[in-house]
Amino acid sequence: MSTIILGIESSCDDTGAAVIKDGLLLSNVLAGQKVHEEYGGVVPELASRAHQQNIVPVVDTAIRRAGISKSDISAIAFTRGPGLLGSLLVGTSFAKGMSLGLRIPIIDVNHLHGHVLSHFVKETENDEVPQFPFLCLLISGGNSQLILVKSPFDMEILGQTIDDAAGEAFDKCAKVMGLPYPGGPHIDRLAAEGDSSRFKFAKPRIDGLDYSFSGLKTSFLYTLRDNVMTNPDFVKENMADLAASLQRTIIEILIEKLDKAVKQTGVKTVAIGGGVSANSGVRNAVAEYCDHHGLKAFIPKRMFTTDNAAMVAIAGYFKYQKQDFCHYDAAPYARVTL
Ligand code: KG4
Repeated sequence: MSTIILGIESSCDDTGAAVIKDGLLLSNVLAGQKVHEEYGGVVPELASRAHQQNIVPVVDTAIRRAGISKSDISAIAFTRGPGLLGSLLVGTSFAKGMSLGLRIPIIDVNHLHGHVLSHFVKETENDEVPQFPFLCLLISGGNSQLILVKSPFDMEILGQTIDDAAGEAFDKCAKVMGLPYPGGPHIDRLAAEGDSSRFKFAKPRIDGLDYSFSGLKTSFLYTLRDNVMTNPDFVKENMADLAASLQRTIIEILIEKLDKAVKQTGVKTVAIGGGVSANSGVRNAVAEYCDHHGLKAFIPKRMFTTDNAAMVAIAGYFKYQKQDFCHYDAAPYARVTL
């Protein structure tokens, strides 16, 4: 008999629902929330209200697009954390209510596991998936982690940021350049036209596999401050070069530790995930690095880089095979590691 998992994602500001049948993606629906744009960041209370408005139509659409009926669903997987508590509560409560109504189990999913396991979502039977063990560079607005993935349930964090995440470095530097939030995609776009060797920014000197991005941020700020004093139009006139130089430095920091981790573990496969893995420069750099070192690279499609419910459904699918269900008293958690 087939296993059909409905995945629900509501950890931040996107409401998502997806249906996976025996590992194959049947539908993947995502509703963004425009309401935060004018505030320059996600407003938690507004996010949870928007989730409440979105969740019924989003789940309904996912089921319809999958061409299944509610009674075909084997279990409902939902993001339990980490994320914004109010937002997580909407998805968690909805999953519980729907599972009670349908008399099917619920499966709690760690959002970070979801990002790592997104590489196992197949859109066609022939899609290739990573072999264990592999190294996953998880880079988002909240995390920068190097993870050794030994199985869908056994993941070891080898290194992580001790201050800002890679996405924060993009967003905070973009903010002082006057770019809209989130700034990462704008830096990416501008960097394509800039000279990446024009500006030099500080790089961290940290032993082991941990990352740090706050020194780079400070160095970027000082460059702007020093130059704006003599030329008020400095940022406007040098937008593309600043973006390209910033992006190059972030990539160099990421690749340096990735290389260390590859040598330390001897893995043959490298995957990237999280919002920052949508960055063109990062994608090219990781692909080139893997090519050069004879490694297999898994670069996710852009729709799987940011929050999505397909990754929640696939993580749920793995847990379903172990009959690893959760109880109705499971509460969401704001913070958790792998
Ligand atoms: O995984 P994600 O959607 O959620 C959070 O962890 O919040 O990641 C969002 C982050 C933001 O910092 C955003 O600026 C960054 O991913 N991002 C990018 C790009 N697209 C999204 N950063 C650089 N280049 C991009 N193309």
